[in-house]
Amino acid sequence: MTEPKIALGTWAWGDTASDRYFGDTLSAASLKPVVTAGMANGFTLWDTAYAYGQGTSENLVGELLAPYPRESYQLSTKFTPRMAGTGDHEMADMLAGSLRRLRTDYVDLYWIHNPDDVEKWTPELIPLVQSGKVKRVGVSNHNLAQIKRANEILGEAGIQVSAVQNHFSLLYRSSERAGIIDYCREHHITFYAYMVLEQGALTGHYDVDHPLPAGSERAKVYNAALPQLTKLTAAIKAIGERQHASIAEVATAYALAKGTTPIIGVTKEKYIASELRAEKVSLTSAEINQLEDLAAQTQVDTKGFWEAPMI
Ligand SMILES: NC(=O)c1ccc[n+]([C@@H]2O[C@H](COP(=O)([O-])OP(=O)(O)OC[C@H]3O[C@@H](n4cnc5c(N)ncnc54)[C@H](OP(=O)(O)O)[C@@H]3O)[C@@H](O)[C@H]2O)c1
Repeated sequence: MTEPKIALGTWAWGDTASDRYFGDTLSAASLKPVVTAGMANGFTLWDTAYAYGQGTSENLVGELLAPYPRESYQLSTKFTPRMAGTGDHEMADMLAGSLRRLRTDYVDLYWIHNPDDVEKWTPELIPLVQSGKVKRVGVSNHNLAQIKRANEILGEAGIQVSAVQNHFSLLYRSSERAGIIDYCREHHITFYAYMVLEQGALTGHYDVDHPLPAGSERAKVYNAALPQLTKLTAAIKAIGERQHASIAEVATAYALAKGTTPIIGVTKEKYIASELRAEKVSLTSAEINQLEDLAAQTQVDTKGFWEAPMI
Protein backbone atom coordinates (compact mmCIF):
# COMPACT_ATOMS: atom_id res chain seq x y z
CA MET A 1 0.00 0.00 0.00
CA THR A 2 1.38 3.43 -0.90
CA GLU A 3 1.84 5.91 1.91
CA PRO A 4 -0.69 8.75 1.83
CA LYS A 5 0.68 12.30 1.47
CA ILE A 6 -1.05 13.24 4.74
CA ALA A 7 -1.50 11.00 7.78
CA LEU A 8 -4.26 11.48 10.34
CA GLY A 9 -3.53 11.96 14.03
CA THR A 10 -5.67 10.92 16.96
CA TRP A 11 -4.08 12.39 20.08
CA ALA A 12 -7.22 14.49 20.71
CA TRP A 13 -9.27 11.27 20.63
CA GLY A 14 -7.57 10.35 23.88
CA ASP A 15 -8.98 13.23 25.92
CA THR A 16 -10.67 11.92 29.05
CA ALA A 17 -12.57 13.64 31.85
CA SER A 18 -9.41 13.69 33.95
CA ASP A 19 -7.00 14.54 31.12
CA ARG A 20 -8.33 17.43 29.06
CA TYR A 21 -5.36 18.18 26.86
CA PHE A 22 -7.42 19.40 23.92
CA GLY A 23 -10.65 20.19 25.79
CA ASP A 24 -12.66 18.25 23.22
CA THR A 25 -15.39 15.78 24.02
CA LEU A 26 -15.08 13.17 21.35
CA SER A 27 -16.86 9.83 21.16
CA ALA A 28 -17.07 6.89 18.78
CA ALA A 29 -20.34 8.36 17.47
CA SER A 30 -18.84 11.79 16.77
CA LEU A 31 -15.66 10.34 15.24
CA LYS A 32 -17.27 7.73 13.00
CA PRO A 33 -17.94 10.30 10.20
CA VAL A 34 -14.28 11.35 10.42
CA VAL A 35 -13.14 7.77 9.81
CA THR A 36 -15.72 7.21 7.07
CA ALA A 37 -14.67 10.38 5.22
CA GLY A 38 -10.97 9.71 5.78
CA MET A 39 -11.13 6.17 4.42
CA ALA A 40 -13.32 7.21 1.48
CA ASN A 41 -10.79 9.86 0.47
CA GLY A 42 -7.59 7.84 0.72
CA PHE A 43 -6.42 9.01 4.16
CA THR A 44 -5.57 5.53 5.30
CA LEU A 45 -2.73 6.04 7.77
CA TRP A 46 -3.91 6.54 11.37
CA ASP A 47 -1.44 7.65 14.02
CA THR A 48 -2.09 6.95 17.68
CA ALA A 49 -0.27 5.94 20.89
CA TYR A 50 -1.05 4.14 24.12
CA ALA A 51 -0.03 7.42 25.74
CA TYR A 52 -3.06 9.21 24.23
CA GLY A 53 -5.46 8.78 27.13
CA GLN A 54 -3.81 5.52 28.29
CA GLY A 55 -5.38 3.50 25.50
CA THR A 56 -8.50 5.65 24.97
CA SER A 57 -7.39 6.82 21.52
CA GLU A 58 -6.22 3.34 20.47
CA ASN A 59 -9.55 1.85 21.55
CA LEU A 60 -11.47 4.33 19.39
CA VAL A 61 -9.17 3.81 16.40
CA GLY A 62 -9.55 0.02 16.76
CA GLU A 63 -13.31 0.18 17.09
CA LEU A 64 -13.88 2.57 14.18
CA LEU A 65 -11.53 0.87 11.73
CA ALA A 66 -12.68 -2.67 12.59
CA PRO A 67 -15.34 -2.74 9.82
CA TYR A 68 -12.72 -2.11 7.12
CA PRO A 69 -10.46 -4.81 5.61
CA ARG A 70 -7.19 -4.73 7.55
CA GLU A 71 -5.13 -4.27 4.38
CA SER A 72 -7.07 -1.10 3.48
CA TYR A 73 -5.56 1.01 6.28
CA GLN A 74 -2.28 1.43 8.13
CA LEU A 75 -1.86 1.68 11.88
CA SER A 76 0.88 3.69 13.51
CA THR A 77 1.32 3.52 17.28
CA LYS A 78 4.06 4.09 19.79
CA PHE A 79 6.10 2.73 22.66
CA THR A 80 6.44 5.48 25.25
CA PRO A 81 9.52 4.83 27.41
CA ARG A 82 8.36 6.97 30.33
CA MET A 83 5.20 4.85 30.62
CA ALA A 84 7.17 1.61 30.78
CA GLY A 85 7.48 -0.32 34.02
CA THR A 86 10.52 -2.26 35.16
CA GLY A 87 9.85 -5.69 33.70
CA ASP A 88 11.98 -7.57 31.17
CA HIS A 89 9.62 -7.17 28.18
CA GLU A 90 8.21 -3.69 28.57
CA MET A 91 8.09 -2.87 24.86
CA ALA A 92 6.59 -6.22 23.89
CA ASP A 93 4.02 -5.86 26.67
CA MET A 94 3.02 -2.32 25.65
CA LEU A 95 2.73 -3.48 22.02
CA ALA A 96 0.55 -6.43 23.08
CA GLY A 97 -1.86 -4.00 24.76
CA SER A 98 -1.87 -1.77 21.67
CA LEU A 99 -2.61 -4.72 19.36
CA ARG A 100 -5.51 -5.75 21.58
CA ARG A 101 -7.01 -2.25 21.64
CA LEU A 102 -6.43 -1.77 17.91
CA ARG A 103 -8.06 -5.16 17.21
CA THR A 104 -5.22 -6.37 15.03
CA ASP A 105 -2.24 -8.72 15.09
CA TYR A 106 0.25 -6.27 13.55
CA VAL A 107 0.97 -2.58 13.27
CA ASP A 108 2.34 -1.01 10.13
CA LEU A 109 4.53 1.46 12.00
CA TYR A 110 5.80 1.20 15.56
CA TRP A 111 7.61 4.15 17.07
CA ILE A 112 9.83 4.79 20.02
CA HIS A 113 8.04 7.91 21.23
CA ASN A 114 10.96 9.69 22.93
CA PRO A 115 14.73 9.15 22.96
CA ASP A 116 14.87 8.51 26.70
CA ASP A 117 17.45 5.72 26.33
CA VAL A 118 18.36 4.88 22.74
CA GLU A 119 20.83 2.12 23.71
CA LYS A 120 18.33 0.37 25.96
CA TRP A 121 15.12 0.61 23.94
CA THR A 122 16.14 0.48 20.26
CA PRO A 123 17.24 -3.21 20.29
CA GLU A 124 13.85 -4.19 21.72
CA LEU A 125 12.29 -3.32 18.36
CA ILE A 126 14.22 -6.11 16.63
CA PRO A 127 12.27 -9.18 17.87
CA LEU A 128 8.98 -7.31 17.30
CA VAL A 129 9.87 -6.83 13.63
CA GLN A 130 11.15 -10.40 13.35
CA SER A 131 7.88 -11.74 14.78
CA GLY A 132 5.84 -9.88 12.13
CA LYS A 133 3.91 -7.88 14.74
CA VAL A 134 5.62 -4.72 13.53
CA LYS A 135 6.07 -4.07 9.81
CA ARG A 136 8.21 -0.91 9.96
CA VAL A 137 9.86 1.04 12.74
CA GLY A 138 10.24 4.73 13.38
CA VAL A 139 11.73 7.04 15.97
CA SER A 140 10.03 10.14 17.30
CA ASN A 141 11.49 13.22 18.99
CA HIS A 142 14.99 11.89 18.31
CA ASN A 143 17.75 14.28 17.26
CA LEU A 144 20.04 13.54 14.31
CA ALA A 145 22.69 11.73 16.36
CA GLN A 146 20.02 9.61 18.03
CA ILE A 147 18.39 8.76 14.68
CA LYS A 148 21.76 7.68 13.30
CA ARG A 149 22.52 5.60 16.38
CA ALA A 150 19.11 3.90 16.23
CA ASN A 151 19.75 3.10 12.58
CA GLU A 152 23.13 1.57 13.47
CA ILE A 153 21.65 -0.61 16.21
CA LEU A 154 18.82 -1.82 13.98
CA GLY A 155 21.17 -2.18 11.01
CA GLU A 156 22.99 -4.99 12.83
CA ALA A 157 19.77 -6.99 12.50
CA GLY A 158 19.18 -5.91 8.89
CA ILE A 159 16.41 -3.49 9.88
CA GLN A 160 16.19 0.22 9.02
CA VAL A 161 14.58 3.21 10.62
CA SER A 162 11.94 3.85 7.96
CA ALA A 163 10.36 6.95 9.48
CA VAL A 164 11.03 9.90 11.76
CA GLN A 165 8.19 11.75 13.52
CA ASN A 166 9.02 15.18 14.90
CA HIS A 167 7.35 18.52 15.59
CA PHE A 168 7.49 20.68 12.48
CA SER A 169 5.44 23.72 11.53
CA LEU A 170 5.90 27.30 10.36
CA LEU A 171 6.50 28.14 14.02
CA TYR A 172 8.77 25.21 14.87
CA ARG A 173 11.52 24.34 12.41
CA SER A 174 14.06 22.81 14.77
CA SER A 175 14.28 19.54 12.77
CA GLU A 176 14.90 21.45 9.55
CA ARG A 177 17.65 23.54 11.11
CA ALA A 178 19.25 20.42 12.57
CA GLY A 179 19.43 18.83 9.11
CA ILE A 180 17.02 16.02 10.03
CA ILE A 181 14.64 16.65 7.14
CA ASP A 182 17.55 16.63 4.67
CA TYR A 183 19.00 13.50 6.26
CA CYS A 184 15.64 11.74 5.93
CA ARG A 185 15.31 12.74 2.29
CA GLU A 186 18.82 11.49 1.53
CA HIS A 187 18.23 8.16 3.30
CA HIS A 188 14.71 7.43 2.02
CA ILE A 189 13.27 7.88 5.49
CA THR A 190 9.79 9.43 5.63
CA PHE A 191 9.73 12.53 7.82
CA TYR A 192 6.32 12.80 9.50
CA ALA A 193 5.64 16.33 10.71
CA TYR A 194 3.44 16.60 13.77
CA MET A 195 1.65 19.69 15.16
CA VAL A 196 1.73 21.35 11.75
CA LEU A 197 -1.35 23.35 12.85
CA GLU A 198 0.08 24.00 16.32
CA GLN A 199 -2.95 22.30 17.84
CA GLY A 200 -5.33 24.84 16.29
CA ALA A 201 -3.28 28.02 16.78
CA LEU A 202 -2.39 28.04 13.05
CA THR A 203 -5.89 27.47 11.70
CA GLY A 204 -7.52 30.88 12.03
CA HIS A 205 -10.25 29.22 14.05
CA TYR A 206 -8.67 30.49 17.27
CA ASP A 207 -7.51 34.06 17.74
CA VAL A 208 -7.39 36.78 20.39
CA ASP A 209 -11.19 37.06 20.39
CA HIS A 210 -11.75 33.29 20.14
CA PRO A 211 -9.20 31.56 22.39
CA LEU A 212 -8.56 27.83 22.60
CA PRO A 213 -10.96 25.86 24.86
CA ALA A 214 -10.86 27.14 28.45
CA GLY A 215 -9.29 24.74 30.90
CA SER A 216 -7.50 22.66 28.25
CA GLU A 217 -3.74 22.15 28.29
CA ARG A 218 -3.41 23.49 24.74
CA ALA A 219 -5.10 26.73 25.85
CA LYS A 220 -2.44 27.14 28.54
CA VAL A 221 0.27 26.76 25.93
CA TYR A 222 -1.11 28.80 23.05
CA ASN A 223 -3.59 31.43 24.27
CA ALA A 224 -0.87 33.75 25.53
CA ALA A 225 0.82 33.58 22.12
CA LEU A 226 -2.27 34.37 20.02
CA PRO A 227 -1.66 38.17 19.90
CA GLN A 228 1.82 37.57 18.43
CA LEU A 229 0.34 35.33 15.73
CA THR A 230 -2.11 37.89 14.31
CA LYS A 231 0.18 39.21 11.56
CA LEU A 232 1.28 35.74 10.52
CA THR A 233 -2.23 34.28 10.33
CA ALA A 234 -3.40 37.36 8.34
CA ALA A 235 -0.62 36.73 5.79
CA ILE A 236 -1.45 33.01 5.59
CA LYS A 237 -5.09 33.94 5.07
CA ALA A 238 -4.24 36.35 2.23
CA ILE A 239 -2.13 33.71 0.47
CA GLY A 240 -4.88 31.13 0.94
CA GLU A 241 -7.61 33.39 -0.44
CA ARG A 242 -5.85 33.49 -3.80
CA GLN A 243 -6.35 29.69 -3.99
CA HIS A 244 -9.63 29.42 -2.07
CA ALA A 245 -7.76 27.73 0.76
CA SER A 246 -8.12 28.19 4.51
CA ILE A 247 -5.34 29.08 6.93
CA ALA A 248 -5.12 25.44 8.07
CA GLU A 249 -4.86 24.29 4.47
CA VAL A 250 -2.00 26.69 3.70
CA ALA A 251 -0.20 25.69 6.92
CA THR A 252 -0.52 22.04 5.84
CA ALA A 253 0.57 22.85 2.29
CA TYR A 254 3.66 24.50 3.77
CA ALA A 255 4.66 21.27 5.50
CA LEU A 256 4.03 19.33 2.27
CA ALA A 257 6.14 21.83 0.30
CA LYS A 258 9.00 21.19 2.72
CA GLY A 259 9.00 17.51 1.77
CA THR A 260 7.36 16.22 4.94
CA THR A 261 4.31 14.02 5.47
CA PRO A 262 2.08 16.01 7.84
CA ILE A 263 0.17 14.14 10.54
CA ILE A 264 -2.92 16.28 11.02
CA GLY A 265 -4.98 15.82 14.17
CA VAL A 266 -8.54 15.30 12.95
CA THR A 267 -11.53 15.88 15.20
CA LYS A 268 -14.29 16.79 12.73
CA GLU A 269 -15.54 15.31 9.47
CA LYS A 270 -15.15 18.61 7.61
CA TYR A 271 -11.40 18.52 8.18
CA ILE A 272 -11.03 15.61 5.77
CA ALA A 273 -12.22 17.72 2.81
CA SER A 274 -9.84 20.37 4.08
CA GLU A 275 -6.86 17.97 3.95
CA LEU A 276 -7.80 17.15 0.34
CA ARG A 277 -7.76 20.86 -0.53
CA ALA A 278 -4.43 21.31 1.26
CA GLU A 279 -2.85 18.75 -1.08
CA LYS A 280 -3.78 20.97 -4.05
CA VAL A 281 -2.42 24.27 -2.67
CA SER A 282 0.87 25.29 -4.23
CA LEU A 283 3.10 27.84 -2.58
CA THR A 284 5.76 29.84 -4.40
CA SER A 285 9.23 30.24 -2.93
CA ALA A 286 8.42 33.92 -2.35
CA GLU A 287 5.31 32.99 -0.36
CA ILE A 288 7.22 30.42 1.67
CA ASN A 289 9.96 32.97 2.43
CA GLN A 290 7.39 35.58 3.44
CA LEU A 291 5.63 33.17 5.81
CA GLU A 292 8.90 31.95 7.31
CA ASP A 293 10.02 35.55 7.92
CA LEU A 294 6.73 36.48 9.59
CA ALA A 295 6.76 33.28 11.64
CA ALA A 296 10.28 34.07 12.87
CA GLN A 297 9.19 37.59 13.79
CA THR A 298 6.48 36.25 16.11
CA GLN A 299 9.25 34.96 18.44
CA VAL A 300 6.78 32.36 19.66
CA ASP A 301 8.38 29.16 20.94
CA THR A 302 6.00 26.21 20.61
CA LYS A 303 8.36 23.47 21.78
CA GLY A 304 6.30 20.84 23.55
CA PHE A 305 7.07 20.09 27.20
CA TRP A 306 8.09 16.56 26.13
CA GLU A 307 10.52 17.78 23.46
CA ALA A 308 14.21 18.57 23.52
CA PRO A 309 15.59 21.09 21.01
CA MET A 310 17.01 19.31 17.94
CA ILE A 311 20.15 21.48 17.96
N1 LIG B 1 5.23 11.89 18.46
C1 LIG B 1 4.84 12.87 19.25
O1 LIG B 1 5.47 13.18 20.27
C2 LIG B 1 3.59 13.63 18.89
C3 LIG B 1 3.30 14.83 19.54
C4 LIG B 1 2.18 15.54 19.13
C5 LIG B 1 1.37 15.05 18.14
N2 LIG B 1 1.65 13.85 17.54
C6 LIG B 1 0.78 13.27 16.49
O2 LIG B 1 0.51 14.27 15.52
C7 LIG B 1 -0.91 14.49 15.46
C8 LIG B 1 -1.18 15.93 15.14
O3 LIG B 1 -0.86 16.76 16.25
P1 LIG B 1 -1.98 17.48 17.12
O4 LIG B 1 -3.26 16.75 16.93
O5 LIG B 1 -1.43 17.59 18.48
O6 LIG B 1 -2.02 18.94 16.53
P2 LIG B 1 -2.34 19.59 15.11
O7 LIG B 1 -2.47 18.59 14.02
O8 LIG B 1 -1.37 20.70 14.94
O9 LIG B 1 -3.75 20.28 15.40
C9 LIG B 1 -4.91 19.52 15.50
C10 LIG B 1 -6.08 20.45 15.77
O10 LIG B 1 -6.23 21.38 14.72
C11 LIG B 1 -7.60 21.56 14.39
N3 LIG B 1 -7.75 21.17 12.97
C12 LIG B 1 -7.39 20.02 12.38
N4 LIG B 1 -7.64 20.05 11.04
C13 LIG B 1 -8.16 21.28 10.80
C14 LIG B 1 -8.61 21.93 9.62
N5 LIG B 1 -8.55 21.32 8.43
N6 LIG B 1 -9.11 23.17 9.71
C15 LIG B 1 -9.18 23.81 10.93
N7 LIG B 1 -8.76 23.24 12.08
C16 LIG B 1 -8.26 21.99 12.02
C17 LIG B 1 -8.39 20.70 15.36
O11 LIG B 1 -8.75 21.52 16.45
P3 LIG B 1 -10.28 21.61 16.97
O12 LIG B 1 -10.64 20.20 17.37
O13 LIG B 1 -10.20 22.56 18.12
O14 LIG B 1 -11.10 22.10 15.83
C18 LIG B 1 -7.38 19.65 15.80
O15 LIG B 1 -7.58 19.16 17.10
C19 LIG B 1 -1.44 14.01 16.81
O16 LIG B 1 -2.85 13.76 16.76
C20 LIG B 1 -0.58 12.79 17.02
O17 LIG B 1 -1.06 11.71 16.24
C21 LIG B 1 2.75 13.15 17.90
